[in-house]
Amino acid sequence: MAKYTLKRTHYCTDLSAADIGSVVNVCGWVQRSRNLGGIIFVALRDRTGLLQLRTSEAENKEIFDLACELKGEYVIAARGTVCPREDGNVNPNMKTGEIEINLTALEILSEAETPPFEIVENSNVKEEKRLTNRYLDLRRPDLQRVMIMRHKVAAITHDYFDKNGFLEIETPILAKPTPEGARDYLVPSRVNKGSFYALPQSPQLYKQLLMVAGYDRYMQIARCFRDEDLRAHRQPEFTQIDLEMSFVDVDDVISVNEGFLKRLFKETIGVDLQLPLPRMKYAEAMDRFGSDKPDLRFGFELRDLSDIVAGCGFKVFADTVAAGGSVRAINVKGFADKLPRREIDGLAEFVKTYRAKGLAWAKLANGEMTSSFAKFLTADEMKAILERMDACDNDVIFVVADTKNKVVFDSLGALRCELAERLGLLKADDYKLLWITDFPLFEYDEEEDRLVAMHHPFTAPMDDDLELLDTDPQKVHAKAYDIVINGVEAGGGSLRIFSSEIQNKMFRAIGISEETAQLKFGYLLEAFKYGVPPHGGMAYGLDRLMMILSGRDSIRDVIAFPKVQTAAELMTGSPSGVEQAQLDELGIAIVAKDE
Ligand code: AMO
Ligand code: AMP
Repeated sequence: MAKYTLKRTHYCTDLSAADIGSVVNVCGWVQRSRNLGGIIFVALRDRTGLLQLRTSEAENKEIFDLACELKGEYVIAARGTVCPREDGNVNPNMKTGEIEINLTALEILSEAETPPFEIVENSNVKEEKRLTNRYLDLRRPDLQRVMIMRHKVAAITHDYFDKNGFLEIETPILAKPTPEGARDYLVPSRVNKGSFYALPQSPQLYKQLLMVAGYDRYMQIARCFRDEDLRAHRQPEFTQIDLEMSFVDVDDVISVNEGFLKRLFKETIGVDLQLPLPRMKYAEAMDRFGSDKPDLRFGFELRDLSDIVAGCGFKVFADTVAAGGSVRAINVKGFADKLPRREIDGLAEFVKTYRAKGLAWAKLANGEMTSSFAKFLTADEMKAILERMDACDNDVIFVVADTKNKVVFDSLGALRCELAERLGLLKADDYKLLWITDFPLFEYDEEEDRLVAMHHPFTAPMDDDLELLDTDPQKVHAKAYDIVINGVEAGGGSLRIFSSEIQNKMFRAIGISEETAQLKFGYLLEAFKYGVPPHGGMAYGLDRLMMILSGRDSIRDVIAFPKVQTAAELMTGSPSGVEQAQLDELGIAIVAKDE
């Protein structure tokens, strides 16, 4: 193996026709090497792109012979003269397509076995294989672009918040549990056997304590850990752009963040956001889109049909309304010709995953209506439904009835997105941002049969609703807000409770006793005795922001070493067993291992 002496003078794509005649040193990986009988062309790759090297037997036999050994992914360093390519060899698709380097020295620094997959743009190799060899996957230009953009996002973030008076302060990773609604990852303490740290689900309580400590404006690009079932756009370990501000109201937090988003979109993808961003109350978002993260790139809004079908001849609808539920519908306007009967029937299965018991439909095509439920209704009732839905020819109406409004919202909310996707309406370069505000403070958790905080238990109730905290907590609204981009919850936050009295009421409402509150959050309650500024903040999911900005569909594509569905990291094989001695030291015994 050669020594590395040809120290790099240029990255591959630093060079252009303007450098013709210069002698340069370049290094990187061999993308490919072609021997055209007496002449070898090597495509050299570094993180900036590709550059062509050239050597011929006639000009320099020694270098030519060495170049004959080159294979894909060999690491080399090379010296040569920048030359124009011969007419006909110019490649307009390549940044350095006008030039090539005529070699005067070559070092093979590292050989390479044939990689398990080719290092090319937009590989269609199975993800499992790519993740197992992530260091090869990460060599691919499209992933390199994402990682470079991620770096840029972090740099813009630091700069923007610095310029706006925020201090970056680190908070512990080995910490006391911070509840954000997921399970904790626990870390056993060797020194204090039987005691555990929790990895933070967010820096929530630390950042509030920094406000108590008088730091006024805090930010951090913070790693968060949540042991939860991995649904779409989730990772067990993810990154937040986290911030907190003192002496502010909701509008202050929103306004600082709109400035941030404007800069971010402009400087990463050249998109000009119009400020202020639109805002929509939670109740309206649910009513119109069946979701608190509505995708506004397309229509198909929900309408309530309950008043029309109350007491109608279709038992499913009538009984639902009588039982206090609702019957709602969407109109997939102008797409009847794209939705054959077979596909419509298949959608009933789709909504079942959201616990809908059925999917009634009416299709208007070529001046005629076919429907799964019209036969049960009077002509007047059907007419009223079509009017409510603004239905005309080439429309399809989908109806869901359920005694639980949540089921109706979830299934129709998901159905409108699914149909938009199937019908190709989701343009990646169309960015629809909005704030969702006026969330309920609590939601009812069916599994636990109790109220839980919708955001987290430190979120402040609206001043006008304070009275209801004791009497009718489900009616209380929160000073909370989410930023939604193209149907993705990209971030969220709230103003916080800053009075011990209200904090205690909050704990009581969600069934946390005084003792438990002391045990879990005693330090916060204690801190609240010594002067707390009104404060609030928010956190973005950096990974989700990256997904949106880079136009990738998967959160795994924007994380260098992501985890898969089973929370495993395939390259290193973590999580993995540990040695008995380590367990002994921690005083931990493994009782049983799940098969
Ligand atoms: P929240 O729990 O809403 O709020 O989290 C803020 C944002 O983080 C992102 N996010 C995730 N991204 C990837 N994988 C996950 N498992 C995951 N979970 C959440 C989302 C979300 O909007 N402390 C509060 C913020 C505050 O009140 O200031 C918090 O963590 O984009
Ligand atoms: P059926 O008489 O059972 O064939 O139902 C007629 C139509 O109503 C079918 O299209 C069913 O999918 C639909 N349907 C059944 N239950 C519901 C429900 N809860 N909500 C909406 N549609 C339903």
